[in-house]
Amino acid sequence: MSKKLRVLKPNEIKVKKEIKEKPSASSSLNKMTLIVDAHHHNEAFVRSTVAAFCVPLNPSIEEINDIKTAVSEAVTNCAVHGYEGRGGEIRVECVIDTASNFVHITVSDRGIGIDNIDEAIQPLFTTKPHFERSGMGFTVMQSFMDKLEVKSEKGKGTTIELFKSIANL
Ligand SMILES: Nc1ncnc2c1ncn2[C@@H]1O[C@H](COP(=O)(O)OP(=O)(O)OP(=O)(O)O)[C@@H](O)[C@H]1O
Ligand SMILES: [Mg+2]
Repeated sequence: MSKKLRVLKPNEIKVKKEIKEKPSASSSLNKMTLIVDAHHHNEAFVRSTVAAFCVPLNPSIEEINDIKTAVSEAVTNCAVHGYEGRGGEIRVECVIDTASNFVHITVSDRGIGIDNIDEAIQPLFTTKPHFERSGMGFTVMQSFMDKLEVKSEKGKGTTIELFKSIANL
């Protein structure tokens, strides 16, 4: 069935233009989303991109390194555990607020999911001891960020949320 095209009236065009021009520049919030393949090359890309996105918060080198390390652990977990090295999509969302100097990062996969979250986040817990995993990824994320939240559903995937306040000295 063919779709009928309708020519817009001039007043409709104006409305669309106004919406388009409504800038988010006046808002203190800024958001970006990355969707990458669970390929080991993308881990460095994601951590550097998130770090660059956080620059308006005026983070210290240490804060930037904390964010990069936490993001790196979360993304690696998606590839290694979520997709078990078979590949899939990793979604990374990053929201910064320059008014409260806050960053909120969400890393998610649609992989196998986590059986028991309470157990998984314990230091030294790993389901892959034979692959040189030390079970410290979640502990690193927790200690380098202010807050970590883990949501997971067996067979559906895992979402990690990382929160950090930036001192902006
Ligand atoms: N995205 C994920 N999907 C499925 N399971 C996960 C995911 N992330 C973590 N897990 C589970 O949680 C466990 C703990 O993760 P954590 O990152 O703390 O340690 P690790 O990845 O095993 O080792 P390390 O990060 O030190 O190399 C993993 O061994 C795995 O069983
Ligand atoms: Mg890990």
